[in-house]
Amino acid sequence: MTRRYDLVIAANRLPVDRVVAADGSTSWGRSPGGLVTAMDSVMRGRDGAWVGWAGDPGEAPEPFTEAGMYLRPVPLSEEEVAHYYEGMSNDTLWPIYHDVIVQASFHREWWRAYTTVNRRFAEAAAEVADDGATVWVQDYQLQLVPAMLRELRPDLRIGWFDHIPFPPVELFAQLPWRRPILEGLIGADFLGFQRVADAQNFVRACRQLLRAQTRKDTVTVHRPDGGTHTVRAAAIPISIDFRGLEELARSESVRQRAAELRHQLGDPEVLMLGVDRLDYTKGIRHRLKAYEELLQDGAIAPPQVTLVQVATPSRERVDSYRELRTQIETTVGRINGDHGAIGSPAVHYIHHTQPLEEMAALYLAADVALVTPLRDGMNLVAKEYVTCRWDNGGALVLSEFTGAYHELHQAFVCNPHDVEGLKQTILKAIHTPSKDKARIMRALRRRVADHDVQRWAQRFLDALAAAPGAPQRSARQ
Ligand code: F6P
Repeated sequence: MTRRYDLVIAANRLPVDRVVAADGSTSWGRSPGGLVTAMDSVMRGRDGAWVGWAGDPGEAPEPFTEAGMYLRPVPLSEEEVAHYYEGMSNDTLWPIYHDVIVQASFHREWWRAYTTVNRRFAEAAAEVADDGATVWVQDYQLQLVPAMLRELRPDLRIGWFDHIPFPPVELFAQLPWRRPILEGLIGADFLGFQRVADAQNFVRACRQLLRAQTRKDTVTVHRPDGGTHTVRAAAIPISIDFRGLEELARSESVRQRAAELRHQLGDPEVLMLGVDRLDYTKGIRHRLKAYEELLQDGAIAPPQVTLVQVATPSRERVDSYRELRTQIETTVGRINGDHGAIGSPAVHYIHHTQPLEEMAALYLAADVALVTPLRDGMNLVAKEYVTCRWDNGGALVLSEFTGAYHELHQAFVCNPHDVEGLKQTILKAIHTPSKDKARIMRALRRRVADHDVQRWAQRFLDALAAAPGAPQRSARQ
């Protein structure tokens, strides 16, 4: 019989992905994305369970235990990967939730798969949750799970956290399935968002589209049995494991690697760095345009100035991601053709996942980090960069369209749509005296150190425990 747990995480992905090699052998690797990085460090050491997809289609592996966590894989068929994950999650919801940077696609069969898969996740979570347990559902892929789970297990405390933006009602209203999505979320006791504006957008959507009763940060609906259910929606911005990452960045091996990287890159005076999943929300094209124009203007020139762009592969079967990759790689090729020389390219482009140690060394080596998303729920790269700068060196160029901006507004702030402004901000980040940059960096680091991922998790769990109440508890007698 399955053991049951007091704390259960339900997320689209498990913290590890099953990797199948060409010879058919399988191994486990770390899953991509900030969600896993954050939640993994929260869950390590807690006796909890994690329900999620193992990252490849077909039968799910048997449940297993990893670093004290019980991992319960949820299977997805080939068709469900195409319809629920690539389709509904990443070609419908993702564009709508990110300001429609690319057009969203609406397909009823994608919605059906989304419903089926959400039910499967709810059933798996219900199976491993102990009596009265807390279930913490993650992100836009699983918005129907709270209500489905509530129906299966009214005894549970159910929370949901939105790692991405929640759109203004004018955009959300485009979704043909806007009602069931809101109703799915309302099944929770507490909903966490990255920004105050995201929480407000949700409450407003409930008021306008469901005609639900709203009061400040709460939404109240009537239940079929005559009682009411109230859910609270508030901002609790996510963070990173500051102490763990800083310790890594201070290690002798990472320091040495940082020095070696600078040397391998030709000892530039200014090393600029971009680190992103290869996603159109990240503003990589805008960043490259600004960089190319600075080269054309003669404001900067390799080998004194160079750029390392790490773009990790993502959602590679979705058309908009394929097109973006082509555009970026064409641009990188053109910039290098026009401005590079043998042994000193203007852009060093890496399109594969790097180990964490290598990332820490890159952060420590980089004079300027370019974080220029067009829209981003949080952007943990900004927080990782300042965490690794224990020497108070470096400068963070940060888009005002990230959640991180709301906490790190002392950074060199930019609007990535304004190419001229972005160029000026990059130059300012380069030329501001080191003394002033160190003062800024200290302030940024203090913020992340005080608001790390452990504090985030505790704040979320406390808010969930104190939320107005699950239906059973709030039922009228
Ligand atoms: O943070 C947003 C998010 O979609 C997470 O849910 C996800 O784990 C990460 O980005 C990476 O995306 P994907 O799982 O589609 O590779």
